[in-house]
Amino acid sequence: MLEQGFLKELGEKIEQGIAILRIYNDPEIYELERKRIFARAYIFVAHESEIPQPGDYVVRYVGDESYIVIRGEDGRIRALFNACRHRGMRLCRSEKGQAKTFLCPYHGWTYRNTGELIGVPAEKEAYGGRLDKAKWGLYEAPHVESYNGLIFVSLDPRAPSLKEYLGGMTWYLDLLTRRSSAGLEVIGAPQRWVVDVNWKLPAENFSSDAYHTLMTHRSLVQLGMAPSDPQFAMYGTHISAGNGHALGIGFIPEHLPLPPFLGYPEPVINALKRNYPSEAQVQVAEKMQFWHGTVFPNLSLLNAALPIPFLTFRVWRPMGPNRTEIWSWFLVERDAPEDFKRRSYETYVHTFGTSGVFEQDDVEIWRGITAMAGGPTAERFELNFQLGMHFQPDPTWPGPGTALPLDYAERNERVWLREWYRYLVSENPWQ
Ligand code: FES
Ligand SMILES: [Fe+2]
Repeated sequence: MLEQGFLKELGEKIEQGIAILRIYNDPEIYELERKRIFARAYIFVAHESEIPQPGDYVVRYVGDESYIVIRGEDGRIRALFNACRHRGMRLCRSEKGQAKTFLCPYHGWTYRNTGELIGVPAEKEAYGGRLDKAKWGLYEAPHVESYNGLIFVSLDPRAPSLKEYLGGMTWYLDLLTRRSSAGLEVIGAPQRWVVDVNWKLPAENFSSDAYHTLMTHRSLVQLGMAPSDPQFAMYGTHISAGNGHALGIGFIPEHLPLPPFLGYPEPVINALKRNYPSEAQVQVAEKMQFWHGTVFPNLSLLNAALPIPFLTFRVWRPMGPNRTEIWSWFLVERDAPEDFKRRSYETYVHTFGTSGVFEQDDVEIWRGITAMAGGPTAERFELNFQLGMHFQPDPTWPGPGTALPLDYAERNERVWLREWYRYLVSENPWQ
């Protein structure tokens, strides 16, 4: 049992920019997160380009539960809990495919790709005509919604619409997902690997932590793989978009000769000027040197040029208090020049793929924190989240949310933790 008062004290500390190390490796906190965060919040499961045709499916996770994300023969996308309604056997054991029906390997119940139960062996003889198949279709997640091709699932019937959940974050997601009217496409399958890391560490890091770049990734500046000024990640805006969603947008400083629009090819730049909903978004994109952020709770996005621009989505799939499966997608504008797509993909693999040079740096840090967080000393060990607490919001910032004028700040981590805490202690987080 979480001892009485721990959560209350934690809540008070978070308000002062203090966390307790224990939260990054604690089985009871993890149990609460499973029920109160992953069974309620909108969780990213797939990009629409992964399941373009009726019958296309991918098996994905909502928290640590397996769901079949499928485009039914009626064209609708559903997330079906991957368990047979007879005795609970895992129904689909391949990760991706095309199916009109799913046949359970235990006793052979068969379901249509829309979830209805359509076949039961020896139905007449064994059930005597008493089985009402209409009642025994697969369990369907109550909310499956997309924004610009990004598919999210919420298991909480009370949840608001995805658009309401994303709120101001849509303005910033547009920068990454609306460059082309043809949309984005996922290239290849998402890379996946398991690390001894608490899932919150990467989620917070991507939402907020430009500060670590100077130290953790310094060798890459020295190797010439990042801009020459080791503080390149400091120059930018640190934005809390509401509902726990947060990001940083780096801007090209005058002393670094970086190309506008991240150096995307001309046709992509021309298209974004037509496709972005507002002129303010075009102006932000022109000056942008990187975009890092997290959609609460566990989808992070990164768009950077190292030196070729690339876009990756990553999900920090929780597997326990000290284990996370990293899912990493590479996406590119569907109508971008083929040569650019190839170079962008290679840059992603070298930097943020499984063995990417940035990725390895980060995982080593998150493992180190998780390893320190599991013992009795960690139960009372305070952490400082106060970087940039003195900054005043920039009143001239054209986008939604609260923007600080430098990306070396921890306001986003504070906002992320506050939202995390709110879910943990709320009976109904939507009130
Ligand atoms: S468990 Fe699926 S048919 Fe029996
Ligand atoms: Fe990093």
